[in-house]
Order: sequence, then structure tokens, then C-alpha cells
Amino acid sequence: ITRKSFPKGFVFGTASSAYQYEGAVKEDGRGATVWDSFAHTFGKVIDFSNADIAVNQYHLYPDDIQLMKDMGMDAYRFSIAWSRIYPNGTGEINKAGIDHYNNLINALLAKGIEPYVTLYHWDLPQALEDRYNGWLDPQIINDFAVYAETCFKSFGDRVKHWMTFNEPHTFAIQGYDVGLQAPGRCSILLHLFCRAGNSGTEPYIVAHNVLLSHATVSNIYRKKYKSKQHGLVGIAFDVMWYEPATNSKEDIEATQRAQDFQFGWFMDPLFFGDYPLSMRTRAGSRLPKFSKAEAALVKGSLDFVGINHYTTYYAKNNSTNLIDILLNDTLADSGAITLPFRSGKAIGDKASSIWLYIVPSGIRSLMNYVKQKYGNPVVFITENGMDDSNDFFKSIKDALKDEKRIRYHNDYLTSLLASIKEDGCNVKGYFVWSLLDNWEWAAGYTSRFGLYYVDYRDKLKKRYPKDSVQWFKNFLA
Ligand code: GCO
Repeated sequence: ITRKSFPKGFVFGTASSAYQYEGAVKEDGRGATVWDSFAHTFGKVIDFSNADIAVNQYHLYPDDIQLMKDMGMDAYRFSIAWSRIYPNGTGEINKAGIDHYNNLINALLAKGIEPYVTLYHWDLPQALEDRYNGWLDPQIINDFAVYAETCFKSFGDRVKHWMTFNEPHTFAIQGYDVGLQAPGRCSILLHLFCRAGNSGTEPYIVAHNVLLSHATVSNIYRKKYKSKQHGLVGIAFDVMWYEPATNSKEDIEATQRAQDFQFGWFMDPLFFGDYPLSMRTRAGSRLPKFSKAEAALVKGSLDFVGINHYTTYYAKNNSTNLIDILLNDTLADSGAITLPFRSGKAIGDKASSIWLYIVPSGIRSLMNYVKQKYGNPVVFITENGMDDSNDFFKSIKDALKDEKRIRYHNDYLTSLLASIKEDGCNVKGYFVWSLLDNWEWAAGYTSRFGLYYVDYRDKLKKRYPKDSVQWFKNFLA
């Protein structure tokens, strides 16, 4: 397949995020974020690294844009660091931050590459965490709206695709249930390893405030900016596909619940105005409720759905897991266990990350699920990709041979294309995660997701094309 196999106007790009790419964390007035604090806390990141330098895109963006251009990419998805615009989360605007993103956007457009901008990819200004516990407090809705509006005002003449949030499910669970990501909160029982919180309620509160923030911002855009700027506002979710582990009724129902607790958690309020019934039943009063006005604000408050899709798992019913019952956390509420194995056999070939198994058919099933359940909305695949390990003993030359990644993209794109051409799914674009190897959160630099290899030992973080770069060149030519 090539890009010509896809409908006219289908967008191809690569994706990134500020904290994983930029570095320059102390430059030009940037304020600290919860991820700076987390990464600098001993023991939180597997290789004891942080993203103070990351892949230095803050300085190297002109070169990186040339790399995108050389490949023939149409678009670039990146995120804005809130704390570069408002170092304290609120208050005074930092002009150097505005200048930086203006320069980046202008440089992209000068090369014919469309900016797709995420407003929040997890790097909350530390000041807001300190002031009121960040996403746990509804005060954040207004502060996020002020920040978002500043972005619309400053960049909206040129940015036509906005994503309010990246993967709220991930940061609600990882940040407030299991404590493996910033701000590192988890249940009292686990709190020797993280900040004590209430993992039975906090993820739900966080998600609720995220949904209200998204809807508030989307409403502001529609009322004040859309008629002049003509852009679209979406949101990007992490979505796995789940196959029932067996044909039993219990496992089939558990599979639906697994999807409800990951994707329906956000999609149902956005499309139907309330959380899935399975969540309301199982979480009970721990799940916040939307008032009538809030439900109306949230419902329909998006122009497209961004889907970050990597992998597929089996799901099975979980009635008796003692640990889950003891922890009483939101992860356990679904009553589903999701695993990449069944009878000891993996669901697909494994990438480097322990969670990433390669199952190309999953993306087609998922697109059909979205079409059927939510009325065939506009979808962008906002991330798809796989990683190699950062093998210290491998030469750079050998690390550039990424056959497996080529097969991954070829097979996922083939499956995605079938969902469009044969099933009529409304998919408009595809973003590779990622242009460059980068800092993989708690996995630090151990994981390489890039089409380009980054030499972390080099002061200048030199980039080298892996074989997949040539594959994309041919595909896009
Ligand atoms: C996201 C993802 C990325 C990861 C990628 C590989 O939230 O968008 O976490 O930031 O690097 O998904 O794990």
C-alpha cells in the first residue's frame, strides 16, 4: 500500500509531546511541572533519567521539521507546555513561551506542514499542583480555560486542529491510582511507594474535571473563535482493543466493561451526556455526577476523536481478585482483567515495551466499534507505533535496522485502510508515534519509539534515519 491507496486529503504525520521532546526546562522562563518533580524524585524513572534535555527539540526544531519534510509528512502533532505560557499556571503570560511556539508553527507552515496541537500532554504547572492539587480541584477548569484561550488567541489564526487533552485515562490511572506517573498518587495501602491518595475516588474526580475542562474550552472556541479561525477541537484517547478471552457470557460482558472503563469513560459523556451504565453501577457514589447543565455542555463538545492505538489484549471476568478487592481502586471497579496472554500464548509478537503486543487486526475492529457505537464520528489516529529497546551494546548502524517497525506500520495501515474502504469508517489521518526516539516517561530512555534514532550519548543529540524512514518516504512519495 501507499498513500495513494487512502482517500484524497487523508493526513499523514508524526506525533510528539513537549515534555518528551523539548528539553530546555529552565530556559526562557518556563515554569516547573509535575513531571519535572516526578522525574527528579529518586526511583520513579527506571533508568534514573529525566527530560531536562530530552531530545533538545526546543533548539533543534528547524532541523526536525526538515526531517519531516524530507519524508513527505503532511502534519506534525506536538503539545504546548502550559508552563512555558504561564510559568505559574495562571497570572502573567510569558512572552518567550508564546514566541517559541509562534516560531515553531511558522517554521512548520513554511515547509507546508500542518500543526496539530495538543494543549495538555501531562506537564501540569507545578504551581497548580502546589496551590490546589491540580486536577483534583474544579478550580482547574477555569485556569485551563484561560490558558487554552491564550493559545487560541495567539496561534489560532494558523492552527486548525486542536486537541484539548492527551490520554486522560492514562494520567488518571497512572497518576492517581497506581502512582507510576506524575503526580504519583495511589492508595493508602501502597503509599510507601507513592503519595498517599484515595485511588478509589481520585481517578474519577480527575477525569470529571478533565471532561468539564475540555467542554468549557471547546465551548469558548465555538462561541468566540470558530467563526474567524475555522478550526476544529478534539481530544485524544488511549484506546486498546479487547478480545474476550473465552466465549463465555461472563468474559464477553467483561470485555465490554474493560472498554467502558477505558474509552467509554470519556466517549459516553461526550456523545451521550453521561458515564457508561457499567461505571455508574460499579463505582456508585464514587463516580461524580454531571448536573443537567454540565451534561449538556459536555455532550457534543468535540469535532473529532483522536485515538492513540498501539495494541490489543484479551479481557476476562474478574470476580475474586483479592488484591484488587483489598486495594478497592478504580482499576478493579471494572471487574475485568486484561492481559496480552491466553493459556500462556501471547496475542501477538511483542515490541520492546512490556505492554506492547503487535495485533494489526485490532485497529480495524476498534474503528468499527467507534463507528457503530458513536455514529461514525471523524477520527484521527493520533498515535500508532512500536518501540525497540535501547540496547547499550548495539552499534548505531545495527539499531537503524528496524524491519519490525516497518512491518508494524505496513500491517496497521493495511488494516486501517480496510476499515475505511471496506467498512466505511470515517478516519481522516494517521500520526506515527514517533518522529524521534524520546523520553518515555517512567521508562526513561530505555525505549526507542522513533523513526529516527537519537544518539543520547552525543551532546547535540544527533538524529539518524532508521530504515523505516526510507519506507515512509516511499510510502508517501
Ligand atoms: C501518550 C503516550 C506517549 C507515549 C507513547 C508510547 O500519552 O500519548 O503515552 O506519550 O510515549 O504512547 O508509550
